This record gives sequence, structure tokens and C-alpha cells, in this order.
Amino acid sequence: MGSITYRPVTDDEYPAFARALFEGFSDDVPDDDFSDLLKTILPPERTLAAFDGDTIVGTFAGYDLDLTIPGGSLPMEGTTVVTVFPTHRRMGLMNEMMRLHLEDSVANGYAIAGLWASDSAIYGRYGYGVATYAETVTMISPNVVFREGVVIDRVRRVSVEEAAVELPPIFDMVLPTKPGMFARTQDWWSVEVLHDASWRRRDKTTLRVVVHDGADGPDGYAIYRQKGGEGDDGHANGTVHVVEVIAATDRAHASLWFYLTNIDGCPNVRRWNFPVDDPFPMKVREPRKLTREKRFDALWILVLDVVAALEARTYEREGAIRFTIVNSFRSETDGSYELVIEGGVGSCRRIDGDTALEIDIDVLGALYLGGGDAHAYAAADRIRGEAEVTRRLDELFRTARAPWCNQFF
Ligand SMILES: CC(C)(COP(=O)(O)OP(=O)(O)OC[C@H]1O[C@@H](n2cnc3c(N)ncnc32)[C@H](O)[C@@H]1OP(=O)(O)O)[C@@H](O)C(=O)NCCC(=O)NCCS
Repeated sequence: MGSITYRPVTDDEYPAFARALFEGFSDDVPDDDFSDLLKTILPPERTLAAFDGDTIVGTFAGYDLDLTIPGGSLPMEGTTVVTVFPTHRRMGLMNEMMRLHLEDSVANGYAIAGLWASDSAIYGRYGYGVATYAETVTMISPNVVFREGVVIDRVRRVSVEEAAVELPPIFDMVLPTKPGMFARTQDWWSVEVLHDASWRRRDKTTLRVVVHDGADGPDGYAIYRQKGGEGDDGHANGTVHVVEVIAATDRAHASLWFYLTNIDGCPNVRRWNFPVDDPFPMKVREPRKLTREKRFDALWILVLDVVAALEARTYEREGAIRFTIVNSFRSETDGSYELVIEGGVGSCRRIDGDTALEIDIDVLGALYLGGGDAHAYAAADRIRGEAEVTRRLDELFRTARAPWCNQFF
């Protein structure tokens, strides 16, 4: 084994980069076109690879994402494709790639970085904290009966080609209303959302799309796949796998879920990445019939620039707080800060000396979008200091609605 070098990959090295990252995730590259798809949304300058000689033994990259935060949006470094070859694990390659990646993120002006973690043990050490949660929800559709008074409309089926035109404006209506969602470019829509190659299906059907038309035009859509099947009793026992439901109105939301739970032959309905505060359970007669199979950590956030990040979001309460940040991976954000909120807008500055509250940097990331629970972190000794100041921190950072990240990346 020679010495390891680190650099972005060239155009020619994309196939090897793709092979390495899939092998890192214990899989094979799905097809020869994959590296071209990857290049569309991940240009060479956003990649980083570890080389042993000429061989790629580690992969890393960053998407340029625009994240919805309370009151606005903020560019986010979307950390992704983190792998190290099994032959080179536990030699510090990821540590070094993360160091280089974050150095680059800061140089590029990002105040936050975010990722979805394949393993929840890995990223806390680098300062990423769990900022959004989601659920896997399953139901048997005949059990899902909507309450009286919930208005349901028919929805309209569209092709994937039509969806490419119709869905982005609907998504863009909802995007600013939900912290944790990130904007989609046209390339992102075609490569990550509506790209329907056979390897994406994993034994299910092609993508199906329905649109809800409201009084002012299309205002909601659902994307799903199906998997047919027959039970032991000979009855159809298929499954609807819901990929995404985006609704700008309550009426669109109810109509889309009514549709998805009334497809003949498919009594099983499964939604991965269901928002924790989705109103669907409140619209049905028996909410317990929506089974929460799993609650999982979704978007993790790392605050790279405390002042810029805290001034970018808005707040639902007025007040001031002083706190000290502890960051064991990047000492640049260590130190004390004061945040003063007036008229919902935060003004943040570095201050000298200690404060009554010490917060680990990953916890600041967890609280950033308004969904974290400061009291629970204090109970775990990840926020240290006076209970009264922890209560104020919780009150100032919390938002009425839970954040939710629309897509794994
Ligand atoms: C996760 C992975 C990238 C780690 O790479 P690596 O080069 O072996 O990691 P390093 O040697 O730099 O170790 C970094 C630190 O993380 C720890 N660590 C690494 N992988 C870990 C894991 N899976 N669970 C817990 N700790 C882990 C190491 O012990 C080390 O800790 P230390 O700095 O306190 O000593 C590699 O194991 C991998 O490719 N796994 C499969 C793909 C994957 O899960 N990627 C994450 C995608 S979100």
C-alpha cells in the first residue's frame, strides 16, 4: 500500500469513481450510464477522491443545495457519497477527506453543511446533528376511512414526461413553507426524481404520477410505484409504494391520500419519509390504523459559520441568549456568542469570556431548523449550564411546525 493522495476526479475518472462508491456501499454500479448521470448533478470540482497510486480507494462529494430554513433559504453544502474501500478502512481516510471537504465548504462560503447518514454512529464526531426526523408509515387501505367533512376531489393521472413540466411549479409552491426541504434544479428533477431506469424500480412498477387540480390550478401531486401480488386466500394483495406527496393545500393533500389508499388490488400502502407532523392521521377516523413502523433520523446539519447561520434564519420569539460552542473536530467555531432577536430577526456576534450555557456544535445543528429538543440534549449532557438558559434556548430556536427533508441524497 503506497501513500494516499487526495484530489477531485477528472471527467475520465467518473466511471472508476462511480464503481468505487457503489462498492463502498456494498453494491454494483447499476449501469454504464450511471457515471454520466452522476456528472450531471455532481460536476468534477465538487468531487473528492482518495487515491492509492492510481486506484480510487475513497469517495466524497458535495452537492450545491439551497435549503429552506425558518423564514428563508440558505445555500448548503450537501455532503454525499462518503465511502472508503474495505481494504483501506480505519486508517483515517474519511477523517482526512472530511477535513478537506469542510475546508473547501468554508472557502466556498457555506454557513451550513448537511447530509443523510447511512449509519448514525459516524457523523456526530464531525459536528453534524440530527435536524429532521421522518417516519415509515404503513396501512391497509380498507382500514383508512376519512372523517366526515374532509373534502375529496378526483385526481388526474399524468405521464412522467408531463410530470417533468407540471410538478416543479407545485413543488416550488410548497418549498418555502417547509424548513428542511431543498430546491430542485431541472437536472435534479430529471436525474434524481423522474429518472425511471429499470435498476431504480427494484421489483416494482414504473413511476406513476397523479396531480390534483385546485381552484387556481394544479396544487398537489403524488409519485408512487406499485407491486402486484396475491394473498394465500387468492385475493389481490398488492402494495402502493408512495415515493412523494407534495400538496400546497389541505384539499389536495386529502385527495391525494384518498387516491393512494383506494387503488383496487393494492390494499397495502407504504410511505417512507413521512413527515412527523403530517396531518393525514388527523383526517381519518382511526389514526392508529396508520402504523408508524419506524422513526428515523433524516437530515443532519453541521453549522460551519455560527454567526452567518443564526442570522440567516428567523425566529418566532423575541429575546437574547449567550452561549459557548464546543467543536472537537473544527476549532474555528469554538467560542462564545450572543444572539439577540428583535422582530423575528436574529443578530449574532462573538463575545469574550464564558457564558452560562455550553453547547456541542452537533446540537446547534440539531436545533437549527427549529425541531430539536434542547431539554433532551441537556439531559444527555450535550448542553451544559443553567436550566433557565436551556429553557430560553429551546423557546427561541423552536418553530411551530416540524422541519422535514423532502429527499434522501
Ligand atoms: C464509514 C466509512 C466511510 C469510514 O471510513 P474510514 O476511512 O474507515 O474512517 P476513518 O478511518 O477515517 O475513521 C474515522 C473515525 O470514525 C470512526 N468510524 C468510522 N466508521 C465508523 C462506523 N461505521 N461506526 C462508528 N465509527 C466509525 C473511526 O473509528 C474513527 O474514529 P476516531 O477518529 O475517533 O479514531 C467506511 O467505513 C465506509 O465506506 N463504510 C461504508 C459506506 C458508508 O457507510 N458510508 C457512509 C455514508 S453516509
